[in-house]
Amino acid sequence: MRFANEFGFCELNSFPGCNQIVISNHGYIYPHHQGKGHGTTNHRLRIQRAKWLGYDYVLCTVRSENTKECSILQKNDFKELDEFYNSKTKQHIKLFGKKILFKRMVKNENFNINRKRISFLNGYRVE
Ligand SMILES: CC(C)(COP(=O)(O)OP(=O)(O)OC[C@H]1O[C@@H](n2cnc3c(N)ncnc32)[C@H](O)[C@@H]1OP(=O)(O)O)[C@@H](O)C(=O)NCCC(=O)NCCS
Repeated sequence: MRFANEFGFCELNSFPGCNQIVISNHGYIYPHHQGKGHGTTNHRLRIQRAKWLGYDYVLCTVRSENTKECSILQKNDFKELDEFYNSKTKQHIKLFGKKILFKRMVKNENFNINRKRISFLNGYRVE
């Protein structure tokens, strides 16, 4: 499923074979909005959506040379799981994963989410 806002878009897709893993892919910030923190903000929105959709684990891949995306993942507690050489695209690829701590969200974060924020997030959901 694709999500979008004025800064860019992303996808969250169920991992075939394990219903509690979600793949985060095709994260993109439009060129004129890049380098202004929107990649970081949209990344956090994406993880929040994955929580609300009820997943337990997020997986994603990124080209090893993509320092911007690697930095976003590392600063948001993603674990670097492995790196491999994509023999088709001739690129090194890093695989990252993160557990979604749903209980912690209910305890610490959910009560702080106000109605405006929820409607903002839902407003950009595209099906
Ligand atoms: C990767 C992408 C999502 C990052 O979004 P962004 O809005 O440009 O990034 P942000 O402004 O949030 O910055 C993220 C990090 O990159 C750094 N950064 C930003 N612009 C940079 C630049 N021109 N050169 C080097 N680092 C840069 C920031 O300092 C920040 O790192 P920090 O947290 O250590 O300070 C975006 O550039 C993009 O869509 N790129 C093309 C598609 C892509 O690569 N998608 C990811 C697929 S896995």
